[in-house]
Amino acid sequence: MSELYAAPPRHDGAANPDARRGGVTAATVAAANSAEDAVERATAVADTVARTAIEQADRAMRHWTDPTPGPVRIGSPQHLRMFSNMLLQTHNPYKPAVIEWPKLSPDALARVTSLPIWDIAVQTEGRASIRVKTFAETVTDPLLRSALDMDGGEEARHKVVLSKLVEAYGIPLAPEPDYPPPDDPEWGWLVTGYSECIDSFFAFGLFAMAKRSGYFPAELVETFEPVIQEEGRHILFFVNWAAWYRRNLPWWRRPLFALKVARVWAFLIWERIGIARGIDADGVAQDANFTMNGSEALGDSLSPGAMIDLCLAENDRRMAGYDERLLRPETVPRLARFARRFVK
Ligand SMILES: [Fe+2]
Ligand SMILES: [Fe+2]
Repeated sequence: MSELYAAPPRHDGAANPDARRGGVTAATVAAANSAEDAVERATAVADTVARTAIEQADRAMRHWTDPTPGPVRIGSPQHLRMFSNMLLQTHNPYKPAVIEWPKLSPDALARVTSLPIWDIAVQTEGRASIRVKTFAETVTDPLLRSALDMDGGEEARHKVVLSKLVEAYGIPLAPEPDYPPPDDPEWGWLVTGYSECIDSFFAFGLFAMAKRSGYFPAELVETFEPVIQEEGRHILFFVNWAAWYRRNLPWWRRPLFALKVARVWAFLIWERIGIARGIDADGVAQDANFTMNGSEALGDSLSPGAMIDLCLAENDRRMAGYDERLLRPETVPRLARFARRFVK
Protein backbone atom coordinates (compact mmCIF):
# COMPACT_ATOMS: atom_id res chain seq x y z
CA MET A 1 0.00 0.00 0.00
CA SER A 2 2.98 2.32 0.53
CA GLU A 3 2.98 3.36 -3.14
CA LEU A 4 -0.53 4.71 -2.73
CA TYR A 5 0.64 7.21 -0.16
CA ALA A 6 4.16 7.96 -1.41
CA ALA A 7 4.91 11.72 -1.51
CA PRO A 8 4.91 12.96 -5.13
CA PRO A 9 8.19 14.47 -6.41
CA ARG A 10 8.28 18.28 -6.18
CA HIS A 11 8.10 20.39 -9.38
CA ASP A 12 7.83 23.88 -7.94
CA GLY A 13 11.16 25.17 -9.21
CA ALA A 14 12.48 25.58 -5.66
CA ALA A 15 13.82 22.08 -5.86
CA ASN A 16 15.24 22.67 -9.32
CA PRO A 17 17.16 25.94 -9.82
CA ASP A 18 17.80 25.09 -13.51
CA ALA A 19 14.10 25.31 -14.17
CA ARG A 20 14.00 28.89 -12.82
CA ARG A 21 16.96 29.98 -14.93
CA GLY A 22 15.55 28.56 -18.15
CA GLY A 23 12.34 30.69 -18.06
CA VAL A 24 9.46 29.49 -20.29
CA THR A 25 11.35 26.50 -21.66
CA ALA A 26 12.14 25.15 -18.21
CA ALA A 27 8.55 25.74 -17.11
CA THR A 28 7.29 23.82 -20.13
CA VAL A 29 9.68 20.96 -19.40
CA ALA A 30 8.63 20.96 -15.77
CA ALA A 31 4.95 20.86 -16.78
CA ALA A 32 5.63 17.98 -19.16
CA ASN A 33 7.58 16.15 -16.46
CA SER A 34 4.82 16.75 -14.01
CA ALA A 35 2.24 15.34 -16.44
CA GLU A 36 4.48 12.32 -17.01
CA ASP A 37 4.89 11.85 -13.27
CA ALA A 38 1.16 12.13 -12.78
CA VAL A 39 0.60 9.36 -15.34
CA GLU A 40 3.30 7.26 -13.67
CA ARG A 41 1.74 7.81 -10.24
CA ALA A 42 -1.73 6.99 -11.55
CA THR A 43 -0.38 3.80 -13.12
CA ALA A 44 1.34 2.83 -9.86
CA VAL A 45 -1.89 3.47 -7.94
CA ALA A 46 -3.91 1.45 -10.48
CA ASP A 47 -1.38 -1.40 -10.23
CA THR A 48 -1.59 -1.35 -6.45
CA VAL A 49 -5.39 -1.30 -6.50
CA ALA A 50 -5.43 -4.20 -8.97
CA ARG A 51 -2.90 -6.18 -6.93
CA THR A 52 -4.82 -5.55 -3.71
CA ALA A 53 -8.05 -6.69 -5.38
CA ILE A 54 -6.34 -9.87 -6.57
CA GLU A 55 -4.92 -10.54 -3.10
CA GLN A 56 -8.33 -9.97 -1.51
CA ALA A 57 -10.07 -12.29 -4.00
CA ASP A 58 -7.38 -14.90 -3.36
CA ARG A 59 -7.81 -14.68 0.41
CA ALA A 60 -11.60 -14.72 0.10
CA MET A 61 -11.53 -17.95 -1.92
CA ARG A 62 -9.56 -19.70 0.84
CA HIS A 63 -11.45 -18.55 3.94
CA TRP A 64 -15.13 -18.82 4.61
CA THR A 65 -17.26 -19.15 7.73
CA ASP A 66 -21.02 -18.99 7.97
CA PRO A 67 -21.88 -16.03 10.22
CA THR A 68 -24.74 -17.91 11.90
CA PRO A 69 -23.31 -19.51 15.06
CA GLY A 70 -24.22 -22.87 16.54
CA PRO A 71 -24.13 -26.49 15.44
CA VAL A 72 -25.49 -27.54 12.06
CA ARG A 73 -27.07 -30.92 11.46
CA ILE A 74 -25.75 -32.66 8.35
CA GLY A 75 -28.63 -33.04 5.89
CA SER A 76 -30.60 -30.10 7.31
CA PRO A 77 -31.74 -27.05 5.29
CA GLN A 78 -29.04 -25.01 7.13
CA HIS A 79 -26.44 -27.49 5.97
CA LEU A 80 -27.63 -27.10 2.35
CA ARG A 81 -27.48 -23.32 2.71
CA MET A 82 -24.03 -23.51 4.24
CA PHE A 83 -22.27 -25.60 1.62
CA SER A 84 -24.01 -23.80 -1.26
CA ASN A 85 -23.03 -20.39 0.13
CA MET A 86 -19.49 -21.60 0.75
CA LEU A 87 -19.06 -22.27 -2.96
CA LEU A 88 -20.88 -19.14 -4.14
CA GLN A 89 -19.17 -16.72 -1.77
CA THR A 90 -15.63 -18.02 -2.28
CA HIS A 91 -15.76 -17.67 -6.06
CA ASN A 92 -12.66 -15.95 -7.41
CA PRO A 93 -13.64 -13.79 -10.38
CA TYR A 94 -10.34 -14.02 -12.29
CA LYS A 95 -10.48 -13.84 -16.08
CA PRO A 96 -8.42 -16.44 -17.96
CA ALA A 97 -8.11 -14.13 -20.98
CA VAL A 98 -6.04 -11.59 -19.02
CA ILE A 99 -3.72 -14.03 -17.27
CA GLU A 100 -0.16 -13.10 -18.08
CA TRP A 101 1.71 -16.34 -18.67
CA PRO A 102 5.28 -15.81 -17.48
CA LYS A 103 8.09 -16.10 -19.99
CA LEU A 104 9.94 -19.35 -19.42
CA SER A 105 13.60 -20.16 -19.86
CA PRO A 106 14.23 -22.74 -22.63
CA ASP A 107 14.80 -25.42 -19.95
CA ALA A 108 11.60 -24.66 -18.06
CA LEU A 109 9.65 -24.46 -21.31
CA ALA A 110 10.93 -27.90 -22.35
CA ARG A 111 9.90 -29.31 -18.96
CA VAL A 112 6.40 -27.83 -19.20
CA THR A 113 5.74 -28.88 -22.80
CA SER A 114 7.02 -32.43 -22.27
CA LEU A 115 4.68 -33.21 -19.35
CA PRO A 116 2.27 -35.92 -20.48
CA ILE A 117 -0.77 -34.27 -18.92
CA TRP A 118 -2.12 -31.58 -21.18
CA ASP A 119 -4.52 -33.63 -23.35
CA ILE A 120 -6.03 -35.44 -20.42
CA ALA A 121 -6.26 -32.25 -18.35
CA VAL A 122 -8.13 -30.32 -21.07
CA GLN A 123 -10.46 -33.24 -21.74
CA THR A 124 -11.13 -33.86 -18.05
CA GLU A 125 -12.23 -30.25 -17.60
CA GLY A 126 -14.39 -30.45 -20.75
CA ARG A 127 -16.13 -33.58 -19.48
CA ALA A 128 -16.46 -32.20 -15.94
CA SER A 129 -18.13 -29.01 -17.12
CA ILE A 130 -20.80 -30.77 -19.23
CA ARG A 131 -21.47 -33.33 -16.47
CA VAL A 132 -21.90 -30.69 -13.77
CA LYS A 133 -24.05 -28.49 -16.01
CA THR A 134 -26.28 -31.42 -17.00
CA PHE A 135 -26.83 -32.35 -13.37
CA ALA A 136 -27.46 -28.70 -12.41
CA GLU A 137 -30.35 -28.60 -14.88
CA THR A 138 -32.15 -31.33 -12.89
CA VAL A 139 -31.97 -29.39 -9.60
CA THR A 140 -34.96 -27.28 -8.56
CA ASP A 141 -33.70 -25.70 -5.33
CA PRO A 142 -32.59 -22.22 -6.50
CA LEU A 143 -29.58 -21.84 -4.16
CA LEU A 144 -28.21 -25.32 -4.87
CA ARG A 145 -28.88 -24.78 -8.56
CA SER A 146 -26.85 -21.56 -8.62
CA ALA A 147 -23.99 -23.22 -6.71
CA LEU A 148 -23.96 -26.09 -9.21
CA ASP A 149 -24.11 -23.65 -12.12
CA MET A 150 -21.10 -21.88 -10.64
CA ASP A 151 -19.24 -25.18 -10.17
CA GLY A 152 -19.89 -26.10 -13.84
CA GLY A 153 -18.87 -22.59 -14.92
CA GLU A 154 -15.59 -22.91 -13.02
CA GLU A 155 -14.87 -26.23 -14.75
CA ALA A 156 -15.46 -24.54 -18.10
CA ARG A 157 -13.11 -21.77 -16.98
CA HIS A 158 -10.42 -24.32 -16.03
CA LYS A 159 -10.60 -25.58 -19.60
CA VAL A 160 -10.12 -22.03 -20.90
CA VAL A 161 -7.16 -21.48 -18.52
CA LEU A 162 -5.55 -24.68 -19.78
CA SER A 163 -6.16 -23.82 -23.43
CA LYS A 164 -4.58 -20.40 -22.86
CA LEU A 165 -1.57 -22.01 -21.17
CA VAL A 166 -1.20 -24.54 -23.97
CA GLU A 167 -1.46 -21.74 -26.53
CA ALA A 168 1.02 -19.50 -24.67
CA TYR A 169 3.69 -22.21 -24.55
CA GLY A 170 3.00 -23.77 -27.95
CA ILE A 171 2.08 -27.20 -26.54
CA PRO A 172 0.59 -29.44 -29.26
CA LEU A 173 -2.71 -31.06 -28.29
CA ALA A 174 -4.41 -34.16 -29.69
CA PRO A 175 -7.73 -33.39 -31.43
CA GLU A 176 -10.43 -32.97 -28.80
CA PRO A 177 -13.30 -35.44 -28.61
CA ASP A 178 -16.95 -34.35 -28.28
CA TYR A 179 -18.30 -33.89 -24.79
CA PRO A 180 -21.82 -35.32 -24.95
CA PRO A 181 -24.10 -34.81 -21.92
CA PRO A 182 -24.36 -38.00 -19.81
CA ASP A 183 -27.52 -40.12 -20.21
CA ASP A 184 -27.84 -40.25 -16.42
CA PRO A 185 -27.13 -36.75 -15.03
CA GLU A 186 -26.72 -38.05 -11.47
CA TRP A 187 -24.18 -40.66 -12.60
CA GLY A 188 -22.19 -37.98 -14.45
CA TRP A 189 -22.15 -35.71 -11.39
CA LEU A 190 -21.12 -38.54 -9.05
CA VAL A 191 -18.32 -39.62 -11.42
CA THR A 192 -16.99 -36.06 -11.62
CA GLY A 193 -17.31 -35.46 -7.87
CA TYR A 194 -15.56 -38.64 -6.73
CA SER A 195 -12.89 -38.49 -9.44
CA GLU A 196 -12.07 -34.96 -8.28
CA CYS A 197 -11.79 -36.30 -4.73
CA ILE A 198 -9.09 -38.74 -5.92
CA ASP A 199 -7.27 -36.50 -8.40
CA SER A 200 -7.26 -33.33 -6.30
CA PHE A 201 -5.79 -35.13 -3.30
CA PHE A 202 -2.74 -36.20 -5.33
CA ALA A 203 -2.63 -32.93 -7.29
CA PHE A 204 -2.31 -31.01 -3.98
CA GLY A 205 0.87 -32.95 -3.15
CA LEU A 206 2.34 -32.82 -6.65
CA PHE A 207 1.73 -29.11 -6.85
CA ALA A 208 3.47 -28.49 -3.54
CA MET A 209 6.35 -30.67 -4.67
CA ALA A 210 6.72 -28.83 -7.99
CA LYS A 211 6.75 -25.59 -6.02
CA ARG A 212 9.37 -26.77 -3.53
CA SER A 213 11.71 -28.39 -6.01
CA GLY A 214 11.68 -25.32 -8.26
CA TYR A 215 10.94 -27.68 -11.16
CA PHE A 216 8.62 -24.98 -12.49
CA PRO A 217 9.34 -21.26 -12.18
CA ALA A 218 7.57 -19.78 -9.16
CA GLU A 219 5.54 -17.35 -11.32
CA LEU A 220 4.01 -20.22 -13.28
CA VAL A 221 3.13 -22.08 -10.08
CA GLU A 222 1.55 -18.90 -8.66
CA THR A 223 -0.42 -18.30 -11.86
CA PHE A 224 -1.91 -21.77 -11.65
CA GLU A 225 -2.50 -21.79 -7.89
CA PRO A 226 -6.17 -20.56 -7.90
CA VAL A 227 -7.19 -23.48 -10.13
CA ILE A 228 -5.87 -25.98 -7.58
CA GLN A 229 -7.65 -24.25 -4.69
CA GLU A 230 -10.83 -24.21 -6.78
CA GLU A 231 -10.69 -27.99 -7.04
CA GLY A 232 -10.35 -28.04 -3.24
CA ARG A 233 -13.58 -26.01 -2.94
CA HIS A 234 -15.28 -28.33 -5.42
CA ILE A 235 -14.54 -31.49 -3.47
CA LEU A 236 -15.53 -29.80 -0.20
CA PHE A 237 -18.84 -28.80 -1.81
CA PHE A 238 -19.29 -32.25 -3.34
CA VAL A 239 -18.80 -34.31 -0.17
CA ASN A 240 -21.24 -32.07 1.71
CA TRP A 241 -23.76 -32.33 -1.11
CA ALA A 242 -23.40 -36.15 -1.12
CA ALA A 243 -24.02 -36.35 2.65
CA TRP A 244 -26.96 -33.93 2.47
CA TYR A 245 -28.47 -35.76 -0.51
CA ARG A 246 -28.16 -39.20 1.09
CA ARG A 247 -29.86 -38.03 4.29
CA ASN A 248 -32.73 -36.54 2.31
CA LEU A 249 -33.46 -39.64 0.24
CA PRO A 250 -36.45 -41.76 1.30
CA TRP A 251 -35.14 -44.82 3.23
CA TRP A 252 -35.98 -47.24 0.41
CA ARG A 253 -33.83 -45.34 -2.09
CA ARG A 254 -30.74 -45.21 0.12
CA PRO A 255 -29.48 -48.75 -0.64
CA LEU A 256 -29.82 -48.06 -4.38
CA PHE A 257 -27.88 -44.84 -3.99
CA ALA A 258 -25.17 -46.62 -1.98
CA LEU A 259 -24.92 -49.20 -4.76
CA LYS A 260 -24.61 -46.45 -7.36
CA VAL A 261 -21.81 -44.80 -5.38
CA ALA A 262 -20.02 -48.18 -5.14
CA ARG A 263 -20.38 -48.58 -8.92
CA VAL A 264 -18.92 -45.09 -9.41
CA TRP A 265 -15.88 -46.01 -7.30
CA ALA A 266 -15.44 -49.29 -9.20
CA PHE A 267 -15.64 -47.39 -12.48
CA LEU A 268 -13.08 -44.80 -11.31
CA ILE A 269 -10.63 -47.45 -10.12
CA TRP A 270 -11.02 -49.35 -13.40
CA GLU A 271 -10.56 -46.10 -15.33
CA ARG A 272 -7.37 -45.28 -13.40
CA ILE A 273 -5.94 -48.75 -13.89
CA GLY A 274 -6.66 -48.35 -17.62
CA ILE A 275 -5.04 -44.93 -17.75
CA ALA A 276 -2.02 -46.24 -15.84
CA ARG A 277 -1.63 -48.87 -18.57
CA GLY A 278 -1.87 -46.12 -21.20
CA ILE A 279 -5.41 -46.92 -22.29
CA ASP A 280 -8.39 -44.65 -21.57
CA ALA A 281 -11.95 -45.68 -20.74
CA ASP A 282 -12.79 -45.95 -24.46
CA GLY A 283 -9.78 -48.11 -25.22
CA VAL A 284 -7.78 -45.28 -26.77
CA ALA A 285 -4.10 -44.77 -25.91
CA GLN A 286 -3.82 -41.97 -23.37
CA ASP A 287 -1.43 -40.00 -21.23
CA ALA A 288 0.10 -41.46 -18.11
CA ASN A 289 -1.95 -41.45 -14.94
CA PHE A 290 -0.38 -38.28 -13.83
CA THR A 291 -1.88 -37.26 -10.54
CA MET A 292 -1.21 -40.64 -8.95
CA ASN A 293 2.34 -41.22 -10.13
CA GLY A 294 3.47 -37.90 -11.49
CA SER A 295 6.28 -37.40 -8.99
CA GLU A 296 8.84 -39.06 -11.27
CA ALA A 297 7.82 -36.82 -14.16
CA LEU A 298 8.36 -33.81 -11.90
CA GLY A 299 11.92 -34.93 -11.32
CA ASP A 300 11.66 -35.12 -7.55
CA SER A 301 13.16 -37.82 -5.43
CA LEU A 302 10.50 -37.95 -2.69
CA SER A 303 9.84 -41.49 -1.49
CA PRO A 304 6.24 -42.74 -1.94
CA GLY A 305 5.76 -42.43 1.83
CA ALA A 306 6.97 -38.84 1.93
CA MET A 307 4.76 -38.09 -1.06
CA ILE A 308 1.68 -39.42 0.77
CA ASP A 309 2.62 -37.34 3.82
CA LEU A 310 2.87 -34.26 1.64
CA CYS A 311 -0.54 -34.95 0.01
CA LEU A 312 -2.11 -35.37 3.46
CA ALA A 313 -0.53 -32.18 4.82
CA GLU A 314 -1.53 -30.17 1.75
CA ASN A 315 -5.05 -31.55 1.86
CA ASP A 316 -5.39 -30.38 5.48
CA ARG A 317 -3.88 -26.99 4.69
CA ARG A 318 -6.16 -26.33 1.73
CA MET A 319 -9.28 -27.31 3.69
CA ALA A 320 -8.31 -25.45 6.87
CA GLY A 321 -9.80 -22.06 5.99
CA TYR A 322 -13.41 -23.19 5.59
CA ASP A 323 -16.16 -23.43 8.20
CA GLU A 324 -15.34 -26.27 10.58
CA ARG A 325 -18.95 -27.40 10.60
CA LEU A 326 -18.71 -28.54 6.97
CA LEU A 327 -17.68 -32.14 6.34
CA ARG A 328 -14.21 -32.72 4.85
CA PRO A 329 -13.36 -35.17 2.04
CA GLU A 330 -12.38 -38.26 4.05
CA THR A 331 -12.32 -41.39 1.87
CA VAL A 332 -9.14 -40.72 -0.09
CA PRO A 333 -7.13 -39.31 2.87
CA ARG A 334 -8.22 -42.35 4.92
CA LEU A 335 -7.10 -44.76 2.18
CA ALA A 336 -3.84 -42.82 1.87
CA ARG A 337 -3.21 -43.04 5.63
CA PHE A 338 -3.89 -46.77 5.44
CA ALA A 339 -1.51 -47.21 2.46
CA ARG A 340 1.09 -45.12 4.30
CA ARG A 341 1.53 -47.91 6.85
CA PHE A 342 2.92 -50.19 4.15
CA VAL A 343 5.18 -47.84 2.20
CA LYS A 344 8.39 -46.09 3.13
FE1 LIG B 1 -11.58 -28.43 -12.90
FE1 LIG C 1 -13.60 -29.20 -10.13
